[in-house]
Amino acid sequence: MGQKPLVKPSRDILVAARFLSEGGIGGVPTETVYGLAADALNPSAVRKIFEAKSRPFIDPLIVHVSDMRMAEQVAEFTDEARLLASRFWPGPLTMVLPRKSIVPDIVTAGMDTVAVRMPSHPIMHELICAAHTPIAAPSANPFGYVSPTKAEHVIEQLGGRVDFVLDGGDCACGVESTIVLMTSNPKKLLRPGPVRACDIEEALSQKIDRSPKVNEAHPQAPGMLKSHYSPKSALRLFNDVSEIPSDFKGEIIFIKRPDEIKSNYYWLSQDGSPKEAMRSLFALLRALDKISKYGIYCQNPPPGDDWLALADRLGRARNKMSK
Ligand code: TXA
Ligand code: MG
Repeated sequence: MGQKPLVKPSRDILVAARFLSEGGIGGVPTETVYGLAADALNPSAVRKIFEAKSRPFIDPLIVHVSDMRMAEQVAEFTDEARLLASRFWPGPLTMVLPRKSIVPDIVTAGMDTVAVRMPSHPIMHELICAAHTPIAAPSANPFGYVSPTKAEHVIEQLGGRVDFVLDGGDCACGVESTIVLMTSNPKKLLRPGPVRACDIEEALSQKIDRSPKVNEAHPQAPGMLKSHYSPKSALRLFNDVSEIPSDFKGEIIFIKRPDEIKSNYYWLSQDGSPKEAMRSLFALLRALDKISKYGIYCQNPPPGDDWLALADRLGRARNKMSK
């Protein structure tokens, strides 16, 4: 767990680590989406993240760690939390745990819990090791917009506001980490993601609350707000293509490659794989958002845990448009 072979950080990672140690901020790759990183223990550096993203200070950040020693420096771990860590870390699972006093208020929005995750992307891992500090990082998008899954997305939207962007290629998962609130009984799925709810339940041998009630005025995770992750174009959802008006001139996204293809058809996966669909979603929404004149229709994913994260992100993206 967290034990990685010793690798020499490349020069770029050392330069990025230096920026972070000196209070700078930068775009960093993770296996889920790109993050906007700062030294989590430096409040004035963390403040720059909020400013660059125009993110409200009430929205707490995830703290990224390289190993369990660092994780236990920032949060109180129960046996169950250690179990989930051993099963899913490094990887796309974030646990919300009681916070330790070393974590500045600005990171947790003054809450007594902190969100912690150990990413598996090798560049992010090396960066945290080289910076010798936990790294606070929200997704590297302006607040409320679709998360970036390529370095160029970060450069496009936040390039002028950061000290560096580390290019780690396309994100393997493509949607943000699964977030579980570990301090409640039952535990709550605050955000569905690449680690499925059923896998967490199996690891813990207990049910978790998959659709906790969201208080829109005081959300436990603002990522839970109905309209988050929104593109600018009107996005509507459909089950069957027959629901789309026949004169619709905009773009139509299918979950899997349709048998019959038209020039305005796009698809999230070749053969209906949920992992491939998650990986493609944000990049495709971004690309279509640039060209779309008449709005976008996207097919609803099938029911079930495999598709929960995709259904969740589509639901939120759609909500803003239907206001
Ligand atoms: O995959 C990810 O999680 C990416 C990469 C960069 O690690 N990060 C990410 O961060 O998606 P962000 O800030 O965009 O989303 C984190 C969510 C927010 O909705 C925030 O409200 C919630 O986590 N959160 C953070 N700390 C929390 C806490 N103590 N209690 C409840 N929710 C918390
Ligand atoms: Mg985000």
